[in-house]
Amino acid sequence: MKDKIKKLAKERNAIILAHNYQPPEIQDIADLCGDSLELSIKAAGTDADIILFCGVHFMAETASILSPEKIVLLPNKDAGCPMADMIHPDLLMAKLETLPPMPVVTYVNSSAAVKALSTICCTSANVVKVVNSLDADEVLMTPDRNLARYAAAHTRKKLHFWDGCCPFHDRLSAVDVKKAKEAYPDAIVMAHPECRTEVLEIADIVLSTAGMIQYAKTSGHRSFIVGTEIGLLYPLQKENPDKNFYPAATNLMCPDMKKITLEDVAASLEFLIGQIKVPEPIRIRAFKAVQDMIAIR
Ligand code: 13P
Ligand code: SF4
Repeated sequence: MKDKIKKLAKERNAIILAHNYQPPEIQDIADLCGDSLELSIKAAGTDADIILFCGVHFMAETASILSPEKIVLLPNKDAGCPMADMIHPDLLMAKLETLPPMPVVTYVNSSAAVKALSTICCTSANVVKVVNSLDADEVLMTPDRNLARYAAAHTRKKLHFWDGCCPFHDRLSAVDVKKAKEAYPDAIVMAHPECRTEVLEIADIVLSTAGMIQYAKTSGHRSFIVGTEIGLLYPLQKENPDKNFYPAATNLMCPDMKKITLEDVAASLEFLIGQIKVPEPIRIRAFKAVQDMIAIR
């Protein structure tokens, strides 16, 4: 199956991008694995004819927003993001009517239609930079309340936030982390900013998924408690075979991130199944929000 995928990708001039939470066999066949920011930058800059995205729906949409001339494939159409589904453009417009005029910072984990209503996007890697770049004292952040609270702790601006979250990061508690610390007292606690404030407050460091891989590589520490979706354990261990990684809890699994199989990838490449195309009027407005974010990085 892996040989078939490599051959098809070459014939079609396709690039395979995979998020760091994807299953090991998917990460192993990808041309690039990364966090949302790295994958967006790659999707904006590739000269491939086809971008095959192993991730969830909003990630393939972002690739289509950035590279409208390319075919973008999501090999399993059911791979969505429960957090992205916690906001709808109509509800966002209604919320904006209740607030004084202010910029809207939207996490990339959102639909193209919500991005189109936003001033600028952000990822977990650049949220603080993006918020602080705005020439405004008050900002509305959507859809992740935990990411917004994290940003609020690192800015002088007043942040209003949408009451959404990643159900898997949000289920990690301070009690879970304390238990993990008792079990592995020498380990450094790394947490993702989608986690609750009570977790971020006791973490040693707060990073995006790519940030965690980079930190584990360059840090002198040997053991790490990993406060994010369980899929990150694979690239962490692969890149650092001599270091130890422990999940902060055993229930941090996102089923949507595990939906794409090697068979799906092969079928998608062979028959161009799973094409994602953002309608042009929405794309143009969403493009500005994503492109302005990439310019800041
Ligand atoms: P990052 O890899 O950008 O940190 O994103 C985490 C995530 O939840 C993606 O769905
Ligand atoms: Fe969405 Fe959370 Fe799954 Fe990421 S891990 S795709 S934020 S539900």
